[in-house]
Amino acid sequence: MDLVATVVTAFWAMLPAYVPNNAAVLFGGGAPIDGGRTWNGRRLLGDGKTWRGTAGGTLTGVLLALGLSAVAEPIGEAIGVSLPTFPIPVAIALAFGAMLGDILASFVKRRTGRERGASFPLLDQLDFVVVALVLTALVDPAWFGEVFTWPVIATVVVMTPLLHLGTNGIAYALRLKEEPW
Ligand code: CTP
Ligand code: MG
Repeated sequence: MDLVATVVTAFWAMLPAYVPNNAAVLFGGGAPIDGGRTWNGRRLLGDGKTWRGTAGGTLTGVLLALGLSAVAEPIGEAIGVSLPTFPIPVAIALAFGAMLGDILASFVKRRTGRERGASFPLLDQLDFVVVALVLTALVDPAWFGEVFTWPVIATVVVMTPLLHLGTNGIAYALRLKEEPW
């Protein structure tokens, strides 16, 4: 696979994991997942992790994966790259895994004394990648092995923090998010 095909595949395959966190910002609000509970005087997760944001983000990612699957062939032909489709368990693993990674990161942030919205470089940018990929590898090892080759994984690790900072910067500029990370 050449470099362009690797980058295009990495971006395409990760889209169902990239979109949920951004969609959660739009859906967010309402009851927090931790119900306000604390541990050692600090919130378990905080008000930034809500049921509505998690459900809305996951659903958006799954629907996006189904949409991408429907157009993978014509788009792939047009750009000359063979693009993967997403079986439903894979779609759920990518989208929900991304949300779960973000939730686990908030748990770690609260345990290390960081308030809601505080930045934690690299954890903020890669938490959701790691959990989305691990969950996907568990639910469909064959699909994972075919799509997420080592060059694709390496591309994801380099590309994701850059994209994440870019999109969060835009969400901040649009006043959708309170911090640019
Ligand atoms: N959000 C949500 N549910 C989630 C993830 C995000 O409702 N599972 C919404 C919340 O409104 C949150 C916003 O999206 O404030 C931005 O998400 P994020 O940056 O992950 O949360 P923070 O508020 O920064 O909190 P934390 O420090 O815990 O990351
Ligand atoms: Mg945040």
